[in-house]
Amino acid sequence: MLRRHKQRHKPSQDEREELMSTPSVTDMLQSSMRRDEVQQRVEQYLRLHDDRDGGGADRRKADYATMINDYYDLATDFYEFGWGQSFHFAPRSRGESLAASLVRHEHFLALRLGLRPGMRVVDLGCGVGGPMRNIARFSGATIVGVNNNAYQIRRGTRQTEEARLSHLCSFVQSDFLHLPMPDETFDAAYAIEAICHAPDKRQAFAEILRVLKRGALFACYDWCLTARYDPANPAHREIKKGIEEGNALPDIATIDETLAAVREAGFELLAAEDRADASDPETPWYLPLADTRWYTFSGFRASRPGRWLTHQMVRLLEAVRIAPRGATAVSSFLERGARALVAGGKAGVFTPLFYFEARRPA
Ligand SMILES: C[S@@+](CC[C@H](N)C(=O)[O-])C[C@H]1O[C@@H](n2cnc3c(N)ncnc32)[C@H](O)[C@@H]1O
Repeated sequence: MLRRHKQRHKPSQDEREELMSTPSVTDMLQSSMRRDEVQQRVEQYLRLHDDRDGGGADRRKADYATMINDYYDLATDFYEFGWGQSFHFAPRSRGESLAASLVRHEHFLALRLGLRPGMRVVDLGCGVGGPMRNIARFSGATIVGVNNNAYQIRRGTRQTEEARLSHLCSFVQSDFLHLPMPDETFDAAYAIEAICHAPDKRQAFAEILRVLKRGALFACYDWCLTARYDPANPAHREIKKGIEEGNALPDIATIDETLAAVREAGFELLAAEDRADASDPETPWYLPLADTRWYTFSGFRASRPGRWLTHQMVRLLEAVRIAPRGATAVSSFLERGARALVAGGKAGVFTPLFYFEARRPA
């Protein structure tokens, strides 16, 4: 009797869209490439990170497009499964959920750029478009997401249609070092944790400056080594290496090198700060990855126990040939990257939240 009166939970529109878009663990690596390619792409990716002869960074810079595409073809399903549709970190306040902090970090950019309806904006290295959709919803601006990875664009286009935002958000497949847009196309530009992949930051910034209108603003969150990083310290070098390998970086620039590249590209620097300092000390940006609790529901999949569980499931699925050969190796190098990020954050030698704002001179 009681059962008949029990209301079945009807998912809201948001929940339905979330359900449609989030891959399950059995979906991982099922549609980004052919099954028989996975192992070979993992090996090709890891070879580029072999620095034993000292030439690794040069090889990664020369072959950056292959390295980044291999990485995102392999890692995108894991990112979406473990983190969501916005592939970045965020400063977090006490009592704020991870999801809320990610969106707030995106809205911060929109506010600083003064985005509003009618503005044409470019998002450089837009992932599957999570930030672009949130910023378009918030500001009403029209945003073009540039990304070199075809798989992410396929997923992002579908998610944008599901979110009914195709009138504001679109994708262009292109390398942000060689943009296909004419000079002075955009009213504003932003990049979230993407320029760190560039083999030459100055070239990336110069290309962004070219497509911005005169007087227009560029805001960026970038991955940088902090002033505490000591290249003579083997523990620091190991952290840097782990972050590069786990996240498809050819190298990692310091904050000073990044700001020098902004100026050399022709931008006028307006503001710069490490947004890691905007976190409550009890909820640093790396906390979701460092969390060891089994009982947290917020961000469990990104936590250490959550990642361990995912790894075991992927191993099992690979053993019974549901997941392709090589899937476990992907989970392993992502895990090494996550641990290096936590170590870099704890030691204060690395930040993924270095923020700057610059203007194309009028
Ligand atoms: C860490 S993800 C961040 C994605 C997105 N900004 C977000 O926060 O969700 C980095 C993104 O930069 C893109 N990317 C890296 N190098 C690129 C390049 N040279 N040209 C275009 N996109 C690039 C990758 O494909 C990926 O989508």
